[in-house]
Amino acid sequence: MTTAVAHPNIALAKYWGKRAGAGNVPAVPSLSVTLAGLSTRTTVTFGGRGEDVIVLNGIVQPAGATARARALIDSVRAAAAIDGAARVESENDFPTASGLASSASGFAALALAATRAAGLDTSVADVADLARRGSASAARSLFGGFCELVPDEAGARAAQVAPEGALPLRVLVCVVTEDAKDVPSSVGMEQTRAESPYYAAWLDAAPRLFADIRAAVVAGDLAKTCELSERSALAMHASALAAGVVYFRPVTLDVYARVRALRAAGRTAFATMDAGPHVKVLTSADESEALARELGAVPGVLRVLVARPGPGAFVP
Ligand code: PMV
Repeated sequence: MTTAVAHPNIALAKYWGKRAGAGNVPAVPSLSVTLAGLSTRTTVTFGGRGEDVIVLNGIVQPAGATARARALIDSVRAAAAIDGAARVESENDFPTASGLASSASGFAALALAATRAAGLDTSVADVADLARRGSASAARSLFGGFCELVPDEAGARAAQVAPEGALPLRVLVCVVTEDAKDVPSSVGMEQTRAESPYYAAWLDAAPRLFADIRAAVVAGDLAKTCELSERSALAMHASALAAGVVYFRPVTLDVYARVRALRAAGRTAFATMDAGPHVKVLTSADESEALARELGAVPGVLRVLVARPGPGAFVP
């Protein structure tokens, strides 16, 4: 039995779209920040009888809803040549409708706990590769601070780009709904690939945005990192929007408008968003408390979580 803890991450340079073929390989490189203060804690036990059992936040999950997690467990069982069913118990200490992808921290914690519970001495890079097959963004949560995920001939490689202290960045998660139902990212990506007249433009722009954001992070340039991150999210959503994949709600646009107004008043405030309507505002440590209050006052914003760069997945 082994327990692992992982934190969610937010992409500064987004990935959107998969490469053709098997293996869940992103079509473009991405770069994220792992967030402290919010965690998924997952315990895996091998050696049971019958079917694998997966319990999320106290609720036993039906097989159909957890096919990717079951595939991950199967591949660990095969690599370790062990028999017997697995029992997985996973808890998030943040609400699943918080606008933070629980699949990233979830698959990172599962991949680490499962390999260690099976007695495998898999390298962190290979654990990240296992997590990526469940959810591509999960590969980045194996590493702390700022992390990249870069597709290559062999698949995709995750690695740390800069440690937690590289930038005094804060992420203000503006939660705008308790409703967790959105078009899942894999469905939204596939629809964008198949139907968006701007998907080719996104595939062309994303690697350049990634390279520029990576350079800004490595140089410790907070303002440039935040500015380019906002552009990456807007380019991704523009390509999705043209395929009818819409994650914006009225309040999402109200937060974006407030962010632009704050910026016009001289504040560091840039917005990013993923496959859901919540807005994550990027700012400096110094400005974060005041800005969180301002954003919390936008009608329709339910609460604002303040997150800082955090560590990679670990076995406590
Ligand atoms: O990890 P997935 O395949 O669910 O996709 C995540 C996609 C985004 O969050 C929108 C962008 C990213 O790079 O994390």
